[in-house]
Amino acid sequence: MQAEWAQLQQLEVKLKTLESDARIKNFIFKEADSPESIPGFPNNGEACREALAADMSRTLNLMTGIDIGVPETHVIKVSAASIDEYGTGEVVGSVQAVAEAESDLLKATMADPTIYAKIPKDCVDSLAVMDIVSLKTDRHEGNFMLGKRDDGSGAEEPTLIPIDHGLSFPSRDGMTCPEGDWTHERG
Ligand SMILES: Nc1ncnc2c1ncn2[C@@H]1O[C@H](COP(=O)(O)OP(=O)(O)O)[C@@H](O)[C@H]1O
Ligand SMILES: [Mg+2]
Repeated sequence: MQAEWAQLQQLEVKLKTLESDARIKNFIFKEADSPESIPGFPNNGEACREALAADMSRTLNLMTGIDIGVPETHVIKVSAASIDEYGTGEVVGSVQAVAEAESDLLKATMADPTIYAKIPKDCVDSLAVMDIVSLKTDRHEGNFMLGKRDDGSGAEEPTLIPIDHGLSFPSRDGMTCPEGDWTHERG
């Protein structure tokens, strides 16, 4: 994957995509560096866990037909100067395709609390499969984007696009520590 144009100050980059016919897509760059150390989640591993979750979503789709829809994600290295004018050396991070969505689910429910009832059951079921298999520890409304899909009759219905998988695939420590249990919420 090669950056053709970058606007890293906004943490958004245009990259060649590997997973669709579209040649170029917008991706969001997230640094791998974690400011805090969380038991069960090796530091600086967030980018790898983000990419692993996307690969898992794609593989489950190929094997079972379940469409989970984690956006295309890769681990890349960029020059630190392209993120911060005083940066030196290189920075590793994940790039994730920007989801086609107007907002995350949290903002959408604040605007329209009835939105939950409009989300199709199969969509929620497939995301539950994803979270159980990946042992994702911080699933909450801020970590879903609210997209749209065809309901089969040409009309649109809401769908959920899962993002933010940096706290997935914990070791045993991550499943029991106060910050890594399934009820813990992060941004
Ligand atoms: N793939 C994506 N598509 C669209 N927006 C995204 C995507 N990933 C992140 N965002 C936006 O950035 C915000 C923070 O991203 P997130 O991955 O949840 O990081 P954090 O670890 O800071 O919570 C999200 O709430 C969403 O608004
Ligand atoms: Mg988040």
